[in-house]
Amino acid sequence: MQNYKIHSLNCDYLDQAYEIEQQINGNHAWSRQMFLGELNNPLAYYWVVAREENIIGFIGLHDLNPEGYITNFGIKKEYQGQKLGQYLLSFLIEKCCQWHLKAVSLEVNENNLRAINLYKKFGFKVEGFIKEYYRNSETGKLENALIMWLHPVIKPEITFTN
Ligand SMILES: CC(C)(COP(=O)(O)OP(=O)(O)OC[C@H]1O[C@@H](n2cnc3c(N)ncnc32)[C@H](O)[C@@H]1OP(=O)(O)O)[C@@H](O)C(=O)NCCC(=O)NCCS
Repeated sequence: MQNYKIHSLNCDYLDQAYEIEQQINGNHAWSRQMFLGELNNPLAYYWVVAREENIIGFIGLHDLNPEGYITNFGIKKEYQGQKLGQYLLSFLIEKCCQWHLKAVSLEVNENNLRAINLYKKFGFKVEGFIKEYYRNSETGKLENALIMWLHPVIKPEITFTN
């Protein structure tokens, strides 16, 4: 991962993060206004993974001490499957450890096996679900969300080699 760096999301990176959001979430994407709102939210922390000036992905956390909540997370389609999601999630969990958060939660579409596997790899467990929380943008059907929790928050033991 030496070619990739993690930075805090700021106004300079906002357009690129917003483009990724549109690419991965289509017509359910957050608006630019929502990102701007988050930049001004004192409880919100967003980080991007970048190669030089190119933003490849982002992740967001609400620090609701003693708990954290993952708000949004995505890697540009053409870079998915290259451990960059894992790299960002690992960084976020390390931050949660440093901030002594006791637990971290998130919601994920029950059909999003890629993300669910990633969260499970870090020790998140399914502890609830929300019926018909998402609308599938292709079929229009409503889909359930899983609520996943990580507690206690333990620094991941994953090493990154490339
Ligand atoms: C989910 C997402 C963030 C994962 O990031 P990524 O960079 O593609 O994933 P990584 O390469 O870091 O993979 C790490 C782990 O995720 C899981 N995973 C990744 N791709 C997978 C696939 N195609 N099928 C099943 N599991 C997969 C595996 O557990 C993998 O670990 P392994 O390689 O040791 O098996 C990314 O695919 C993405 O942006 N998806 C669209 C948006 C989204 O779903 N966001 C999460 C909303 S809750």
